[in-house]
Amino acid sequence: MSSQIVIDPITRIEGHSKITIHLDDAGEVVDAQFHVTQFRGFERIVQGRPIHEMPSIMARICGICPVSHLIASSKACDAILAVEPPPTGADLRRVMNLAQIVQSNALSFFHLSSPDLLFGFDADPAKRNILGVAQANPQLARDGVGVRRFGQQIIEWLGGKRIHPAWVVPGGVDAPLSAETRDRILSTIPEAMAAIERALAWYKSSLLRWEDEAASFGDFRSAFMGLVDEAGNVDYYDGRLRVMDADGNLLADRTDPRDYQEYLGEAVEPWSYLKSTYWKMLGYPDGVYRVGPLARVIVAAQMGTPRADLELDEFRRRLGRVPASSFHYHYARLIDTLHAAERIDELLRGPDILSPRVRSFADVNANEGIGVSEAPRGTLIHHYRVDDDGIVEWANLVIATGHNNLAMNRSVRQVAKRYVKSAQLSEPMLNRVEAVIRCYDPCLSCSTHALGEMALHLQLIGPDGAVLDEIRR
Ligand code: MG
Ligand code: NI
Repeated sequence: MSSQIVIDPITRIEGHSKITIHLDDAGEVVDAQFHVTQFRGFERIVQGRPIHEMPSIMARICGICPVSHLIASSKACDAILAVEPPPTGADLRRVMNLAQIVQSNALSFFHLSSPDLLFGFDADPAKRNILGVAQANPQLARDGVGVRRFGQQIIEWLGGKRIHPAWVVPGGVDAPLSAETRDRILSTIPEAMAAIERALAWYKSSLLRWEDEAASFGDFRSAFMGLVDEAGNVDYYDGRLRVMDADGNLLADRTDPRDYQEYLGEAVEPWSYLKSTYWKMLGYPDGVYRVGPLARVIVAAQMGTPRADLELDEFRRRLGRVPASSFHYHYARLIDTLHAAERIDELLRGPDILSPRVRSFADVNANEGIGVSEAPRGTLIHHYRVDDDGIVEWANLVIATGHNNLAMNRSVRQVAKRYVKSAQLSEPMLNRVEAVIRCYDPCLSCSTHALGEMALHLQLIGPDGAVLDEIRR
């Protein structure tokens, strides 16, 4: 008799989801699936809305990464207006996008994943949380709070004290930056950088503890995708696509991301509301690729800022040019965060950053527009079609968690095969199944276009479909 394990909902990730693990007659894991189970359908909701409302509507897809949607949506609107934001407007958008990267990465690393990394995956769940971290390593917990606040404050200071800032608009941004706000942000950068570097030093000192987990947390050959600039360095705002295979060969380079439909397929599986994106050239499901911090540090020649580049060199010395395990998302996420803080500093010291010219105005000049940027979790694509009056007729979003869906499923399967030892659920197995999902930091709010609590439902299912064991928490 075979069986199935279901984890539903998953804890310490953003949103609602469920995991099922299928066992064969011998009690061995034959399959595992990561299901995204809620749906709100923003692609449909926006039909009939005027184009100028799109950025602020799209920001409401997600309470975790609203700025990412603001940026990609505004870029799609720029294309429909056929305008370029003035250079200062584009730089101010970049600053806000980087601040979103910092605050979201900090939430993932410090609040959600550091308890496992500090106490171990077998530790007592009662202390394996951020409060336990605050007791055992107060500096690490303080740094987590501090780095996240650093990113959030920048978003608030730029956009006004709103959860969903409407400061990023089609054509640029709504208001120029004041010298006072610039100086206030600049004054917070040194402490944020010091905190990120302390976290990097701590993480590197414990890297060897996790060799066993690294060998099963999504350790497989795949491609990686991210945006890069003219020099081949990471670019979060308007780069071009680079796709690198597991051997470091380029499958695509400086490819226009607006042609995404030529390269990326979107498969729909009956068990999930989350579409699985794949690299068409390699077919489905072989065209699995990963996006997000690990992909960004892999595909880029360099980060392009001094301190992050030193860290990237060390990362490559330790792990090689294309590390295969998704466990290394954590390490990459810290380098990504350090780079974002350095770039915010560089951008704010630019000679024209206080220019009053921050927005271009135009009417509808095209019936279609695509906006692409790097969100904390990876490449984000907004694609709209409008009528001649600028009323939205059709919208498609390709979100980071969808790019990673195939890789996440493969990773869950690998962890289940390694750690599921019987037709019963055990806490160490359960925690590792959740932890491998957390490596990707999936934004299920975005995936389902719904806001949700973090929760987990796991089911262990036999060959006849019977539920052998299950946990909800
Ligand atoms: Mg879509
Ligand atoms: Ni999100």
